[in-house]
Amino acid sequence: MTVPRLRARKGGEPLVCLAAYTTPVARAIDPHCDVVLVGDSVGMVLHGLPSTLGVTLEMMIMHGAAVRRGLTKALLVVDMPFGSYEASPADAYRNAARIMAETGAAAVKLEGGQAMAETIAFLTARGIPVMGHVGLMPQSVHSSGGYSARGTHSRDWAPIRSDARAVAAAGTFAVVVEAVGEPLARQITQDLAVPTIGIGASPACDGQILVIDDLLGMTSRSPRFVKRYAEVGDAITAAAAHYAQEVRARTFPGPEHTYAMKD
Ligand code: KIV
Repeated sequence: MTVPRLRARKGGEPLVCLAAYTTPVARAIDPHCDVVLVGDSVGMVLHGLPSTLGVTLEMMIMHGAAVRRGLTKALLVVDMPFGSYEASPADAYRNAARIMAETGAAAVKLEGGQAMAETIAFLTARGIPVMGHVGLMPQSVHSSGGYSARGTHSRDWAPIRSDARAVAAAGTFAVVVEAVGEPLARQITQDLAVPTIGIGASPACDGQILVIDDLLGMTSRSPRFVKRYAEVGDAITAAAAHYAQEVRARTFPGPEHTYAMKD
């Protein structure tokens, strides 16, 4: 997958996107995905942080490079973490260039609407493809007051539509739309000439994204928009319990797991 091919999928077959953070998981999902995003959700999902605000550039680069090693087909996009792009377009360029150079990502994603348009234009004019992210923006959780759905009253639509239009006009090749109701998601998808990728934003978007750990049932609480396609967390607990029981009973390791003497 390339950025131009992804952009050209607007209105076509829905784009399949997942957020993932490690090489083995990237390898397992690559055949089925158009985009693998190394989201800053890594901070909450893998590192146990209370929000995405504590995620650093170094964490994103480490996980981005790990995921790159597991991909042969899907487009790799890496999130710019909180504090790495907001201060100035030049700052954003320096940090986005580091992400691209040190991970092999094809693009970066950053949160924000009209306020980020100048930065997005600066990056895209200098050869850095940018994916936008509007609606619920987890890096702004303190100013916005929480993780609840956005635009559920039509009187609240205008700023979200303006944000989406602003980042698309600034040059994003796709826009993540998070936690908005279906009528607004449909409207934004109609407004934009580039694909919308929904997370909690209904089937009206041009594609969907979920966090792989949510879909696998690895996280304790799932938001409404997550469908758990497996219960891997339960399978891990059951496997660990079985292992513990066999170690305590001395039935593991068996002779087949033990090296034989050669003399
Ligand atoms: O951080 C993340 O995982 C995201 C999502 C869009 C899944 O931004």
